[in-house]
Amino acid sequence: MTEAHWWQDAAVYQVYVRSFADSDGDGVGDLPGITARLPYLADLGVDAVWVTPFYRSPMADHGYDVADQCDVDPMFGTLADADRLVTAAHALGLRVIVDLVPNHSSDEHPWFQEALRDPSSRLRERYLFRKPGPDGGPPNNWESVFGGPAWSRDEASGEYYLHLFDRKQPDFDWRHPAVHEEWERILHFWLDRGVDGFRIDVAHGLYKQAALTDHPPSLESQDALFHASAAPHAWDQPEVVDVYRRWRQITDGYTDRVMVGEVFLSQLERVARFVGPDRLHQSFNFPLLAAPLDAQTWRRLITASLAAFEVDGAAPTWVLSNHDVIRHATRYGGGEQGRARARAATLTLLGLPGSPYLYQGEELGLEQDDVPGPARQDPIWLRSGGTVPGRDGARTPMPWTAQAPGHGFSSGTPWLPFGGQAAERSVAAQEGDPGSTLAFYRRALAQRRALRGGLDRTVTWLDGPPDVLAYARRHADGDALVCVLNTGEATTTFALPGATLLVSSDPAATASADALTLPAGTAMWVRAQV
Ligand code: NOJ
Repeated sequence: MTEAHWWQDAAVYQVYVRSFADSDGDGVGDLPGITARLPYLADLGVDAVWVTPFYRSPMADHGYDVADQCDVDPMFGTLADADRLVTAAHALGLRVIVDLVPNHSSDEHPWFQEALRDPSSRLRERYLFRKPGPDGGPPNNWESVFGGPAWSRDEASGEYYLHLFDRKQPDFDWRHPAVHEEWERILHFWLDRGVDGFRIDVAHGLYKQAALTDHPPSLESQDALFHASAAPHAWDQPEVVDVYRRWRQITDGYTDRVMVGEVFLSQLERVARFVGPDRLHQSFNFPLLAAPLDAQTWRRLITASLAAFEVDGAAPTWVLSNHDVIRHATRYGGGEQGRARARAATLTLLGLPGSPYLYQGEELGLEQDDVPGPARQDPIWLRSGGTVPGRDGARTPMPWTAQAPGHGFSSGTPWLPFGGQAAERSVAAQEGDPGSTLAFYRRALAQRRALRGGLDRTVTWLDGPPDVLAYARRHADGDALVCVLNTGEATTTFALPGATLLVSSDPAATASADALTLPAGTAMWVRAQV
């Protein structure tokens, strides 16, 4: 890459707006709440904040069902609050990435409302209305990602409309030019307000196969995390990248803005098609989310990711948790051990070139909460009649203080209840404790910031025992940053003479004159000659 850009190495912190900080006591987080907590994020040492959707919405999918992408939902504040957030973030040196949801709108979007009201309206062509299939049922066999058919019937006209998510999230027809024009207007609207970039929801969606033919039945529901492999006609159509070519021209007309796509595909070579100098700057890189914490698997996936994304005009991303998946401390076994492994995994990714995307609460070592059934709100849970747990357990509010019931998140009743971990893992409980997960994140992010300007982007693998993942990145001062991770069940040593410890995921991981000692499930960064 000829010129360095902030987003090539930015640590980005995802704020799930409903659950971060509630300023007005209604139990739901909001924009002024985020603004008030920005100093915490600046202290944590991240470079940017990605704020999940805060636009006008009936909240059927908690904001991913957007009725007006250019206005703020009163539950979250006002446009002036959004402007204040951006200004306050910039004053602290933080960038702001907002979420765009271009695959679908809310059924309460004015276009869809008009399409329902008047079946002869031309606005109907901006969505995917179709006549019933030969048996009078849905036009094809597509399923919603949230469970059940991807079609709902409009009783007035007898036609069905497509929704790959909830029935309150009708899919746009991206073959209609008005949809393109509208989204280009939306891009300019937010760029002109000074946001630093966009996270693009379901970026591999948008276009559907023109004929909307049935999916092969043998593929159905094969791959729960990566729906696309089970539904080849619904996702990743050849035309979609052209949308991002146009959007890149638009963002390139502003200074140093970024687009990161939520490209939920399991094959990296297909994901890689979305990034490059004339398309998206970044795509989320999800295969690690679905992989066990195992040295060999990680080496293979990281190697493939670097080859796919460390390319001109783009940069890799690293993701272990977000609001849609089970928190990584829980995936790695939960409890003390799961949290320790989660820290080790995070440290390993923080040392790589590219952008780690961190999810709120992981810096506290939060685990997935077991939200009681009656309190659950996720449409996945609701649509499945309570048979699929859904994502609420990753979305419980941030515990800022140890004091129940609001834990500094809200003076009212939180929209999702806190689990049992809130008091013990609150920010206040960890503040000032050098052994806490929070202190570890601060140390690791500070080291990352101190080193990154001098680090070569090339990652060199170092060989060691099978359970050890080790890599080096050369530093301009002649030494290298060496990261070593032990994914095994026993303590291991790694020969590395003259290493100086920079940061470790666990105080029991140590460097002596000749070798590093890493207990099971720990990682460390050292400075060494390699
Ligand atoms: C991906 C988002 O991350 C998820 O929360 C949402 O439900 C779907 N896209 C639909 O917008």
